[in-house]
This record gives sequence, structure tokens and C-alpha cells, in this order.
Amino acid sequence: MKVKEIIEKTIKEVFNTESFSVDRPSEESRCDFACNVAMVLSKTVGKNPRELAEEMVEKLKKDKELALVVDLEKIEVAGPGFINFWVRDEYLGKKISGVSGFRVKPGMTESEIEIGDSDWMKGKKVLVEYSSPNIAKRFSVGHLRSTIIGQALFNLYKASGASLTNDNHLGDWGTQFGMIIAAVEEENLDISKMSVGELEELYVRFNTRISDNPDLKEKAREAFLRLEQGDANARKIWQLAIDVSMKEFNEIYKKLGVSFENMYGESVYEQMMLEIIEDLKRKGIATEGERGAYIIKFEKNGKEYMPPAMLVKSDGSTTYMTRDMATIQKRLTEKKLNADLYIYEVGSEQKLHFRQVFETARMLWPNETKDVRFVHVAHGLLTLPEGKMSTRKGNTIKLEDLIAKAGDEARDFVKSEDVDAEKMAINAIKYNELRRSPELNYVFRWEEALAMEGNSAPYINYAYVRAKKIVEKLETEKTQTLKILFEGEERDLARLLMRFAEGEIVEDAAKNFAPHLVAGYLFEVAKKFNAFYDHNKVLGDSREKERLVLVNAVAEGIKKGMKLLGIEVVEKM
Ligand code: ARG
Repeated sequence: MKVKEIIEKTIKEVFNTESFSVDRPSEESRCDFACNVAMVLSKTVGKNPRELAEEMVEKLKKDKELALVVDLEKIEVAGPGFINFWVRDEYLGKKISGVSGFRVKPGMTESEIEIGDSDWMKGKKVLVEYSSPNIAKRFSVGHLRSTIIGQALFNLYKASGASLTNDNHLGDWGTQFGMIIAAVEEENLDISKMSVGELEELYVRFNTRISDNPDLKEKAREAFLRLEQGDANARKIWQLAIDVSMKEFNEIYKKLGVSFENMYGESVYEQMMLEIIEDLKRKGIATEGERGAYIIKFEKNGKEYMPPAMLVKSDGSTTYMTRDMATIQKRLTEKKLNADLYIYEVGSEQKLHFRQVFETARMLWPNETKDVRFVHVAHGLLTLPEGKMSTRKGNTIKLEDLIAKAGDEARDFVKSEDVDAEKMAINAIKYNELRRSPELNYVFRWEEALAMEGNSAPYINYAYVRAKKIVEKLETEKTQTLKILFEGEERDLARLLMRFAEGEIVEDAAKNFAPHLVAGYLFEVAKKFNAFYDHNKVLGDSREKERLVLVNAVAEGIKKGMKLLGIEVVEKM
């Protein structure tokens, strides 16, 4: 149990109440935890909150279990009636040296060291859907964001004790494939040697020609119909488009160190859609709209609370919405996909779409969705300084450029042959993404991502390298048996590290779908460590042993924290 939980449990038992909270104080120097129980109860008891708090403190000071983790001498009343707690020195030392000594569970390999893990999601299942690029279109910078954030969320929930799976919801179906097929057939093209970029241009060109040539529109419609009906040539072109695209996408995944257990593209759901549409109609959830289209209205007490969604178009074709409904059905019914929590990492322009999808799923499958949580984690727009990126008109900023240039950018910057420049640059891209809240829009700047001073991967990685170098001398077995008591500045750093060691950082970040809380924390650790090392000698000091334990915990904490963000630190810089 965490210290916070032990405090909560004690208060609950001793005062027989649940109406209180134990929190981190806004000012770190005040205490480790503060509780408002006296303020909450004062009215019912008819006492002044400070007075009540004093009485409570006296009782708490007698608690044996609390004494193991909290410094009883230092429990005190503060402000209008808060009760403040400090973690006990011995306990702090034990926890931090535990981090240094690797808390390895039996059967775990070294790479699975559980520093920082939590168990708040134990027994739960989570599915994270992310990346989800579109076949025959460039992997956009938006998909890059989704891939990086989605992977971090996956890691955070895994570190929260849940059992995890992921799914890459490829955009491999829809009327745009009619245009590609028609374009390929028209010019009798061999697309097997084409790049995704060229495939996209093919589609874009065809699409622009459609506006002054209605015949082409008919051709594309007819080609998509053939694809739906299983026509051999249409299928062949479609499959080639998938192969060509996946080859490129897989290279990106390899560079990013991302892999998927499931890759169910939209086409997978084709067969399931008819039945879902019928069910929605039968239950009166879908109603006929204009010109034979089917729509879903969202009304409560005769009032529309959300714009209607298009389920079937007037020409009878199914929509993105229909496919998302089928996706949910598959996930709810298939064992390996089934989960308590479904996380969708998709751009914020699809916010309304997901609200509509989740709401419709709850209307259609009320029992199956009763205990299920659907969350859309939406990311904002990422632009390069050159200007806005849009996929529609084919003027996408090339992701390849960003990643391909990565190595060069970093090489200029690191200047040393020894350093894995490409890895550092990819790390910098990832961290630069994860250090801010997903929904924010931002402009990507290499000088920011690679900044040696500032909230960047190189800065944090450098603190790691520095710490690691110092602790080469540390003998873990020996220090594990030592009784470690930190003093002064050591103690402050240890208190910060304790938050990670107890799983608090992982828990906060996972609960809030906010990898940036991990990033912000790591930045804090790196800064505090640098300041500590500037003022304090480690090797050769009379407090060498304690400080080595501390510095090792810094190194291991940064390494594991970065790993949660999908970043493997480099050992040399
Ligand atoms: N392929 C879509 C896009 O690029 C994203 C898919 C998101 N996931 C979903 N279940 N609709 O916009």
C-alpha cells in the first residue's frame, strides 16, 4: 500500500468516516500529504475545525500502523484545520534504496523492472486504438501524434496493472477506393512499385477531375460497387494498395518501436454492417432522412442535444459511422478484444463523431455497454513552421521528411560519432509530443525538440547519462542492507523520487489520459538532480553511500519513466 492509502485507511478506521480527502499540498515544502477531515466534520461535531484537528492529531499519534510510514512527531495542524503528514525518514530511505536495488518480482527479467508501476487497474481489461492511418494516403502528422500518444497510453495502462491489447483501425474501406480503382483501370497502371505518396496523388488527381466530369464520378461509384461485390480485378487493385501502404507504414512503426496485436481495418466490418443497420432501424434508433438516407437523431424530451449522424447515405452506401458501430460490436463480443475501457486516440476534429458513435452504441446495446467506458483522447493540430498541413488537397507535409531529417538534425547537434543520432532524434520527436497535453495545437520546431537546456528529451536523457556515470561505483547488494537516512537537499530529491516509486505518477497520468504528467515529472527530476549535483559532491563525500543510492534512483527512475513514454534512453551522449 502507498503511504497515502495508509493515511486514508487509518483516518477512515479511527474516525469512522469516508468524507475527506488526502492530497498533495500545493506547496511541496509544507508536507507530503494534507487531509481535510477535521474541516469536513467540524460542523456536524459542532467544533471549531482547528480544535477538532488538534484532537484528531492526538489520536493519530497513537496509531501503530501509521507510525511505520509517517513521522508521528511531525503530524500537525495547519491553516484553517488541515492535518499535515510527513513520510518517515526510515521509510523514505527504504523505498528509495528499494528502487536502487531493483524491486524484481520472481520470474521477472531485468527489462521488466517494475519501478513506478501501480496496480489501480488490476483485473481490468483495456483496449487502446491508435495510429489508424488510411490506405493509399500518406501517414499524416496527425497519425504520428496518435501513434506516439496511443503507445504511451498503452504503456501507462499496462503499468497500472490492467491487461492490455491494442488495435490499429486502418482506413481500408470507403468510396475513395472506387476512385483509386477507376484511376488505375483507366490508365492500366501497375501500382505495385508506387509509393503511398504517389497513390495519394493518383486519388487527388482523379478527385479534382470529378468536379467537371460527372462520368468519372459514376465510374468510381461503379468500381466501388464491384469491390463490394468481390470483383477480382477490383479486389486485386485494392489489395495492392494495402500492401504498398503497409510496407511504408511498417517502416514507420519500426522506427518508432511500435507494434500492434490487432490490425482490423474498416473492411473487416463490411459483413457485419447490414445486420446492425437493420437492428438500428427496427429499434427506431435510425430513421429515414432525406432522399432515402438513414440518420440517427439524438434527442431528449423532444430536444436535440447533438446533431444527427449519417448511418446510410442516400445512395445506399454505408458510412464511417456504420463501420465504427460494427467495430464496437466486434469488440464487445470477441474475447481477445473485449475490455472494460476502450481508448480511442484520434484527432479532435472527430470529437462529435465519437460522441455520436458511443451514444448510439449505448442505445443499441444497453446491457453490453452498461459497465463499459469509451474514451476519445483527442489530439490537436501539429504544424511545421512552414504552414498548415491538410490531407485533403494532397499538400500533406511529408512525415518522411520529419523522420528522415531526424538523424541529420541530431547529428549536427550532438557532434560526436559515438552517439546514436537517429535514435536521439526520434526520442526528441516523441518527447516533444508527449510533454504537452494531447489536445493542444503546436508548431514543431527542431530547436525546441533538441534543446539541450529545457523541457526536451536530450535534457532529460543527459541527466540520466550523468547520473548513470556517477553510480557506476554503486554496489547494489551492499546498499540494500544499509539503513539509509537522507538529509537536507537529499531528502527533497528523495521525496520527489518517492512519488514515482509509489506508482503515483503512473496512476495520475493513466487516470487523466495524460502522458504529459509523466514528462513533466521527469523534467522536474532532471532539474532537481542537476541542481543537487551542482551543490553536492557524491563520490568521495562522507555521505557517498546515501548519495549513490539517491543518484541511482534518479537514473533508474528516468530510464523507466522515459520507457513509459515509449522512449528508450541512450546510454552515451
Ligand atoms: N482512419 C481515420 C483517420 O485517419 C482514423 C480512424 C479512427 N478510429 C476510428 N475507430 N474511427 O481519420
